[in-house]
Amino acid sequence: MQNNATKLSSRALAAQIILQVLDQGKSLSTVLPEVHSHINIKDQSLIQEMTFGICRVLPRLESIVKLLVEKPLKGKTRLVHCLLLVGLYQLLYMRVPSHAAVDEVVNATKVLKLDSFRGLVNGVLRRFLREQADILAKVDKHWQTLHPEWLVNKLKKSYPHWREIIDANNQRPPMWIRVNSQFSSVESYAVALDGVAEYLHSSQIPPCALYLNQPQAVSSLPNFAKGWATVQDAHAQWAALLLDVSNGDKVLDACAAPGGKTTHILELAPKANVIALDIEQARLKRVAENLSRLGQDAKIICGDASQPNQWLEDDEMFDRILLDAPCSATGVIRRHPDIKWLRKESDIDELVQLQAKILTALWQRLKPNGVLLYATCSILPEENSLQIKRFLEKTQDAMLVEMDFGGEKVFEKQFFPSEKGGDGFFYAKLVKKVD
Ligand SMILES: C[S@@+](CC[C@H](N)C(=O)[O-])C[C@H]1O[C@@H](n2cnc3c(N)ncnc32)[C@H](O)[C@@H]1O
Repeated sequence: MQNNATKLSSRALAAQIILQVLDQGKSLSTVLPEVHSHINIKDQSLIQEMTFGICRVLPRLESIVKLLVEKPLKGKTRLVHCLLLVGLYQLLYMRVPSHAAVDEVVNATKVLKLDSFRGLVNGVLRRFLREQADILAKVDKHWQTLHPEWLVNKLKKSYPHWREIIDANNQRPPMWIRVNSQFSSVESYAVALDGVAEYLHSSQIPPCALYLNQPQAVSSLPNFAKGWATVQDAHAQWAALLLDVSNGDKVLDACAAPGGKTTHILELAPKANVIALDIEQARLKRVAENLSRLGQDAKIICGDASQPNQWLEDDEMFDRILLDAPCSATGVIRRHPDIKWLRKESDIDELVQLQAKILTALWQRLKPNGVLLYATCSILPEENSLQIKRFLEKTQDAMLVEMDFGGEKVFEKQFFPSEKGGDGFFYAKLVKKVD
């Protein structure tokens, strides 16, 4: 009975979460932790699977609802619409016996005080079960990108392999970890993981990265609590390596939260003087937790990277600056599929302007011969190569430096998401010339 009750509320909660994402523009990474703090681990993973999954395949589910519901469910009935998305996702993508899944979703109408829609939800889901083959034949007649049209158009315009990128975005993300070389070699950590990890050799994959065949709870990673490993995408692991920090260097990690790259910098140069800056106080808590788990020390500052005069002394300058800029996050869609529905086309111009503003402001704080590494998890040229091109045109003392990705030498690097590979990332390394 207890078990049944928690299951019921999982479906109801999933519908409420989807409503918050689609109609209130809230991200899953903001909403889920709040919900998770009230429920058990089993329900947490069930809700996670349903909400991430629905965002991944939303247009397919929406086409089915459109075929089965005569009048669109708008306004106060949007929650019923979201509950139908939950029901259809379960029937199509989860290994739950169909009739039990329908019953549970129908019963969720009661929990959500939507009793008057019980018949509608029941009717729609049961009709879907009866006519599934015909309905899917209609819905899947053409290839669905499962992406918003504006983004598909942007990708089409920039990349001949846009279909491959879209396919990769629609997959589940692989789990990568970074092995802390202060404690273990990658090889021996892979052995300790006993068949779960694969060490993939390629110029795209940094030497500290390990691929896991199946996602693992961090608590099952050997010595995780002592800082032996950190969960971080393979391509994100290039940042600290490219920054090439020495002990004693003054380093600014300008958009640091949750601290994945800050801790890597300190693994490689434990005596560097690092400032970890972020505009969001709540996210800086995660930086502090990560530093503490790894036994590291950095000065944490909450501030706006585009206004360094507000949080730095007048004469404070840096040997190294990492600008992991706020961006569209179009390179990490498979990890955060809600981005597809949260991000709007008009956001891109605003982000491009913010990135340019931060880049210009921080350049003033770089010492002569100092290095600024510009990074984004975007795959849009306007945030990446075009951003850097414009910056170089207006900044006389800035010059690109060659980067070495396991033997591949380039001045700019655009990574794309790939199966058994890393996420979409961009890197450009700039040095401040002296006359
Ligand atoms: C891509 S995330 C950084 C990820 C981080 N470097 C890591 O590796 O864990 C971008 C960060 O930029 C922060 N941010 C956005 N605008 C900012 C600004 N004007 N100044 C400082 N930080 C900002 C966001 O709060 C977010 O934490």
